Amino acid sequence: MCNNRTNQQNPVNKGIAALVQFFMPQGDPENKIKMKGSDKQMCKIYAIASMKGGVTKTTTSLNLATALGLTGKKVLMVDLDPQGSLSICAGVENPDKLTHTTYSLLNAALNEEELPEPREYIIPCEKIDIIPCNIKLSAFELNRGHEIGAEKALQTVIEPLKELYDVIIIDTPPSLGILTANALTASGGVIIPVTPQLLSAVGMKMLIKTIQKIQKHVNPTVTIEGVLMSMCDTRTNLYKEISEIMEKTYSQTVRIFDTIIPHSTKVGEANLRQQSVLIYDENSKPSLAYKKFAEELMANG
Ligand SMILES: Nc1ncnc2c1ncn2[C@@H]1O[C@H](COP(=O)(O)OP(=O)(O)OP(=O)(O)O)[C@@H](O)[C@H]1O
Ligand SMILES: [Mg+2]
Repeated sequence: MCNNRTNQQNPVNKGIAALVQFFMPQGDPENKIKMKGSDKQMCKIYAIASMKGGVTKTTTSLNLATALGLTGKKVLMVDLDPQGSLSICAGVENPDKLTHTTYSLLNAALNEEELPEPREYIIPCEKIDIIPCNIKLSAFELNRGHEIGAEKALQTVIEPLKELYDVIIIDTPPSLGILTANALTASGGVIIPVTPQLLSAVGMKMLIKTIQKIQKHVNPTVTIEGVLMSMCDTRTNLYKEISEIMEKTYSQTVRIFDTIIPHSTKVGEANLRQQSVLIYDENSKPSLAYKKFAEELMANG
């Protein structure tokens, strides 16, 4: 479970102590806030995106974030799907009752209001932190999506958080509307989970077009990090056929990660307990696969 009382446990909230570490020439190794200067690693921001529903965007967000957190990286997850699945799976208590969510922050950013302090809205969970959301976020899409600059609201929210985290992972809804546009605008890389289903692979074409549009008009530095084959039973003909199609269609233009996330009931069991599978059963096959994926992603730079 997360600690919803945003709060002492949250390492971004150590106030003066964190600021002292920030300005000191030699940082405390316990302090994961990286120093500015030559040893400052750039914060990596990934959107987990696909217009297709149920392809493991949320599961990938939670478990990749946890795998990276277990390696000692300071990781923030951002729930940008009005379904709030990431908030629920990460163990956020009563997300519907929260005052500060991605919805309130996007609105504040678009209104050009001063944003609250991170400690007021970031919730620390096991190994990772989260900016949660709930169904109210759908109102942003409905009411504000047409406004000038709407696609840049998340970028504004994330900007001051980049020096607090090594990695930020954004879970997106199964659509290519303004919320996904915000995620692509705020990100450096996009990870596309694909499951061995025909429609899952077909959705990629439109997502790639959308990413190209975002590159052209709003965020020239966003790239497709790669395709993650997920929820796979590698023994089935369906898996073999879909992975062959993916290989033939996309491998020349898009990286297909070597890691394959296996289909496993452990993932559903962990979701039910509102835990990452890496916490629920750290040596299970999906846990080991997510650790391997985190290594592969980081090795890529
Ligand atoms: N490796 C896996 N093995 C078995 N089941 C899995 C695996 N990964 C995810 N699932 C299950 O598949 C379902 C869909 O996963 P998830 O919610 O992560 O997809 P999503 O793309 O985020 O969906 P949506 O588009 O609705 O947001 C969930 O019930 C989840 O528990
Ligand atoms: Mg989801």
